[in-house]
This record gives sequence, C-alpha cells and structure tokens, in this order.
Amino acid sequence: MKLVTFAGSLRKDSLNKRLAKGVAQSQGGEFVDLQPLSIPVYDADIETEGIPAGVVTLARFVRAADALIVAGPEYNGTITGVLKNAIDWLSRVKPLPLDSKPILLLSASPGALGGVRSLWHTRQAFEVLGCHVYPGMLGVPKAHEAFDANNSLVDERLRVQLQQLVSAFLAHASKITG
Ligand SMILES: Cc1cc2nc3c(=O)[nH]c(=O)nc-3n(C[C@H](O)[C@H](O)[C@H](O)COP(=O)(O)O)c2cc1C
Repeated sequence: MKLVTFAGSLRKDSLNKRLAKGVAQSQGGEFVDLQPLSIPVYDADIETEGIPAGVVTLARFVRAADALIVAGPEYNGTITGVLKNAIDWLSRVKPLPLDSKPILLLSASPGALGGVRSLWHTRQAFEVLGCHVYPGMLGVPKAHEAFDANNSLVDERLRVQLQQLVSAFLAHASKITG
C-alpha cells in the first residue's frame, strides 16, 4: 500500500506539514512538500501553454498513491486557497489522478477546534472529483504545542486517536484498491 501525504500550506514551519510528515513517517509513506513545486494560481492562459511542471509532479505522486492523507489548515472557516488551487489543477490533468482515490482528511490549527470546520469543505472538493473521502476526520487543536521533534503528537490520547484513525483508513483503502 503506497501512502502519499501532503499539506494545504506552503510555509516551511507549517503545522499541517508537520502533521502530514509525521503520519507519513509512522506509516512508511511519502510526504510531498507543495512549496518547491511552485504551483501557480490557476489561469486558463497558463494551461494553454501546458500543465505546469509542479502540477505534473504532484499528479505523478497522486496517481502512484494507493491512499492519500491530506492535512489542510483552516482559513476563515474553510479550505485554503493553496489546497483548492492544487485540487483545481489536478482536475485539469487527464486521466484524472484523483479518480477513485481513497483520502483521509486531517487538519492542525493553533485554535481550539483544530481546523475541523474546513474539512467539510475540503471533503466536498475531493468528492466532486470522485475520491473516496474517509468518513472519519481529525483536527489537531493547539497545534503550535502539539508536536515533538519527530512530528509525533505529544498528547498520548490524541496520538492513539490519530494512529487508530490512520490504521482504520488504510484498512479501508486497501479494500477499495484491492
Ligand atoms: C488568512 C488566515 C485565516 C485563518 N483562519 C483560521 C480559521 O478560520 N480557523 C483556524 O483555526 N485558524 C485560522 N487561521 C490560523 C491558522 O490555523 C494558522 O496560521 C495555522 O498555523 C496555518 O496552518 P500552517 O501552520 O499549516 O501553515 C488563519 C490564518 C490565516 C493566515
């Protein structure tokens, strides 16, 4: 089972990148950093010139994955422009790299809710493209103090909750992908 994770944030100290990286490390998966991919804001004029190299790279990772875990920050109660833009670009690559892909959605925020409100909107954006978005989702609250140096969650209860969610998701994904 090839697991790929990425985050809907670009900055190097992103809490969501730490979450996505930590999960990839614990499962032998691969974390993809969107920042160096320099994906432009979607513009049909750019698309006329060809799909940008960063989108082609992301599409390759997504296509090769049996399961995806995406950690998205919450901006103003919803999905970040970075993540929505990446999804929009991926929807322009044919055949669709996201088609039938099992996805688990996570979020991390310094706030008390862990960014979970955004995940309902993120779910919609992926489901429209034919992804199997796992019913369970998890937000990491107070995320600025939630991780150790290995990007593992410090709080044991939350760490176990995340492990159980990821295991259940991967078992589900393996049933879908056969
Ligand atoms: C434009 C903007 C809007 C934000 N809106 C929310 C929000 O609605 N809920 C929330 O929990 N945090 C919100 N935040 C705070 C982010 O959760 C915080 O900056 C977080 O660290 C971003 O994720 P990252 O660390 O992965 O980059 C917002 C931040 C920005 C810059």
